[in-house]
Amino acid sequence: MAAFVVLTVLVPLFACAPDSDSGSTARSTVAAPTNAAHPSRTPTPSFFDRSALSIDDPTSIWLVVDKLRPLQPASFAPSDLVETPLPHLNPPSLRAEAANAMIAMFAAARAEGAGAMQLQSAYRSYSLQVEIYGGYVASAGKTGADSQSARPGFSEHQTGLAADISALPLTCALAACFGQTPQGIWLAANAYRFGYLLRYPADKTAATGYIYEPWHFRYVGESLSTEMKRTGATTLEEFFHLPAAPAYAP
Ligand code: DAL
Ligand code: ZN
Repeated sequence: MAAFVVLTVLVPLFACAPDSDSGSTARSTVAAPTNAAHPSRTPTPSFFDRSALSIDDPTSIWLVVDKLRPLQPASFAPSDLVETPLPHLNPPSLRAEAANAMIAMFAAARAEGAGAMQLQSAYRSYSLQVEIYGGYVASAGKTGADSQSARPGFSEHQTGLAADISALPLTCALAACFGQTPQGIWLAANAYRFGYLLRYPADKTAATGYIYEPWHFRYVGESLSTEMKRTGATTLEEFFHLPAAPAYAP
């Protein structure tokens, strides 16, 4: 992170409604049938199809990337990146759908009293992740690096669906105490409304393989984020019944 040139261009916020989930040709939620002809029957709960979208395809908003699930191909780059017009430190590229949801989330955070925020880091290419991971290895050693930075080809940032968010004015940027700021508290409680997920929770480090990162949010679309909220699942591994990924395969 330290290697980045600090850009201080602040772009005005504007409100924009989040897109619907792209690629959801098969809708993941089906309305419960009415029981008008059988008034005594218990309503059928709505059904969430966990296989509606791919968790393997790097273009899918449900892609699960972790230490056991590298991007395939490792050099993957999304084709619909846009510059997100929000305050930022590093180039704020995200996939279009994730960018629109992020804009709406920043606007709601302000409107609901949480305050202003900045994108610290959004899309990162494979080669940028080489630089970043290398920086962590140089300063913290390989074990230290692996607890906080993904190896190239294993980062959610490479999908164009993840971003690191900080408070403005800057306080606790990329630090655990961000979780105690008004912005961090609001995001943890409300990101799901915009299709985002706090991807590395404090109590799930054994499943995710990473330290608590209250600043790292991953776009999965509103249908999945809402279902995860409803079921109480806080990691993608848990929701999709995937193995915990505390370490890389030997
Ligand atoms: N800090 C997260 C794990 C990443 O490098 O993608
Ligand atoms: Zn991140």
